[in-house]
Amino acid sequence: MIVTRRHLVVGAAAVASVSAAKAQNLVAQNLVATSAQDLGPFYPIVRPTDHDADLTRVKGRDGVAMGQPINVIGRIVDLHGNPVSNAQIDIWQCNAAGRYAHPGDTANPAALDPNFQGFARLASDRDGQFKFRSVKPKDYDTPIGRRTPHIHYSIDGHSERLVTQMYFPGEPLNDIDFLLKNAAPKQSVIAEAIDRLSGDPQALAFRWTVVLGVG
Ligand SMILES: [Fe+2]
Repeated sequence: MIVTRRHLVVGAAAVASVSAAKAQNLVAQNLVATSAQDLGPFYPIVRPTDHDADLTRVKGRDGVAMGQPINVIGRIVDLHGNPVSNAQIDIWQCNAAGRYAHPGDTANPAALDPNFQGFARLASDRDGQFKFRSVKPKDYDTPIGRRTPHIHYSIDGHSERLVTQMYFPGEPLNDIDFLLKNAAPKQSVIAEAIDRLSGDPQALAFRWTVVLGVG
């Protein structure tokens, strides 16, 4: 066979395109699954009837939850970066004083906040995204150590349930938290601080991408 210049050009283009596809694939496969974390003892025994995406208000009450408001923008993807749509996302957290609305949270003398919802059940949209508004949870003591601020998650993907916790960047207790130190990789469970959302300037804003190992 006589190799013409055109053969070489086409051949080089094919190699380049295969290499690009391989590289893209490698990048896609390089996503690391979000670390699982303990369920903890405070998943609600009875889920509240109001479980919408605004945890700072409780239906039927006029008050607003105490504490620093936050917006969390989340996204759920698989290891290839494909969105996981219609995942069921349960979140629960302590209030701004470090207290859970749970009968088992007897160690903490802090008061309950009747205007704090404490739990939400959300669904990811077609792009895998979800969003909620809450208040920043406080750190709290446990018999085996102080917990850094975190929000608990239980995520039902299409064929996998991930129970984990989301942490906040730059928290002094992140370095010593006895559960966060077991996260692998640790960075997979720490949200990123982002600009406050226009229209909600009082609330701090965070972004977190959850990578499901199976989807
Ligand atoms: Fe907790």
